Amino acid sequence: IKVLHVASEMHPLAKKGGLGDVVGSLPKAQRELGIDSRVLLPLYPGVMDRIIGKAKKLPRKLYLPLEWRVFPARLWHTDVQEVPVYLLDIEDISFSADVYPNQLDMNSVRPFFLLSLAAMEFKKATNWNPHIFHIHDWPTSMVATVLKWHMYYSTLSNHYDTVLTIHNLAHQGIVQETNLIQWGIPKEAFNIEGLEYYGMTNFLKGGIIASDMVTTVSPRYSWEIQTREYGMGLDGVLKKYNSKLKGILNGIDYSYWNPKTDPLIPAHYDVNDIAPKRECKKSLLSRCGWEDDGSPILIYIGRLAEQKGLDILLPSIEAIPGHGCKLIVLGEGSEIYERALLDMCLQFPDSLFVKIGYDEELSHLMYAGGDMLVMPSYFEPCGLSQLIAMRYGTVPICRATGGLADTVIDADSASDGTGFLFSSYDSEAFLRAIGRALASWNSPNHWNRIISNCMKVDFSWSKSSREYANLYLELLGVPEGENK
Ligand code: ADP
Ligand code: GLC
Repeated sequence: IKVLHVASEMHPLAKKGGLGDVVGSLPKAQRELGIDSRVLLPLYPGVMDRIIGKAKKLPRKLYLPLEWRVFPARLWHTDVQEVPVYLLDIEDISFSADVYPNQLDMNSVRPFFLLSLAAMEFKKATNWNPHIFHIHDWPTSMVATVLKWHMYYSTLSNHYDTVLTIHNLAHQGIVQETNLIQWGIPKEAFNIEGLEYYGMTNFLKGGIIASDMVTTVSPRYSWEIQTREYGMGLDGVLKKYNSKLKGILNGIDYSYWNPKTDPLIPAHYDVNDIAPKRECKKSLLSRCGWEDDGSPILIYIGRLAEQKGLDILLPSIEAIPGHGCKLIVLGEGSEIYERALLDMCLQFPDSLFVKIGYDEELSHLMYAGGDMLVMPSYFEPCGLSQLIAMRYGTVPICRATGGLADTVIDADSASDGTGFLFSSYDSEAFLRAIGRALASWNSPNHWNRIISNCMKVDFSWSKSSREYANLYLELLGVPEGENK
């Protein structure tokens, strides 16, 4: 099977959050199963410096027609951990990595539309023709719409199938402009059964309707988004098309995220010998300017966005010193949250440490040196931080929503428990869950069992990459048993 992932992020070339991790690890896992998975990405400014000498410019140019002109474009080819990656370099067009701004306009959407056109023309530049386009979130959801209309008007000689993975329904790619004829999208596409959304254009909605299969990144999120509370205005559409909707849990790259070999942490450990984790904790504490006084360390690593539960995390911080623990926060995002955290840092210098920014190295030290990870998300399509934390023996305390509910087992209700869950979206419920975690911390046997349960669960791609493989086979109509 030949699959082209078209995406806006891929670790380590471009990463803002979990989407980058997934595109950086799923194709690799798929190739291990014998699927020829490749990736098409935008060439963001700055990425060239990192691939220089390693990337090869493909000789054939692509010509991408849009509005009153044709944009010449090139593909650069490189391999990332043996996955062929193609980076799209368009003359006069610059890709902005900020694909989740508060307000989108046509200028921010145009480059991604050109990326979709390039996907359609991919064979011309590479001599490699995918069977399936696997697209991710709104920036590449237009591939499905573009292909659908070109296949409908028979301007393409091949048939392609499309799988759209929704990583986050909160971002849909909505613009005011409704006349996309100059983009090669016929008037018929602007329809309630297409791109139309309350008199605007919604690229994710168009992609959901035009794709052959739609997946979410956890099973629970696939039904949550069919409810009004979590459907972000698309619950009706998702319910209508739920026969092609499937939840497949994300995995993480177990060779990259591995406390036994991680080059970014000062001491290495595994489930059979957890003792060196203590050294990582010491090193983390010294980064914060703290002594190791034996108190448990809570960590938060993630975007500072409403989705992540900052509205209940912030009011809980005052109670942290009284609980005898400390909190380390690493993140960037909304200015309001950034400021509030920095202010609180001045108020609680002995129990709160905040680093604003994106820091891959510090994140590894935190996963390894922390005792508990807090993730009080309002909604969470999957969440990777809790999976990484468990891999490093750091116990997650999470709100029971989306992928968090699918991956964490409450340790007070099951002997194979891996963390602590709460349901109600308020600080009191969150603090009660922290309180339960601290009670277990004070009972070393129980605590060690939880850590060991965390480190034994398997959230590598081994299971989920097979689920994607089965879905591809189903799409291509290959009978079971002939899946080679
Ligand atoms: P989301 O994709 O919604 O941001 P996930 O939990 O799926 O959340 O994935 C977040 C990924 O990004 C994890 O790999 C996490 O470690 C990483 N990450 C988030 N914020 C930062 C940061 N400020 N510095 C370093 N890594 C971060
Ligand atoms: C999104 C979601 C997150 C998920 C990630 C990767 O950004 O917010 O829950 O883990 O994508 O699929």
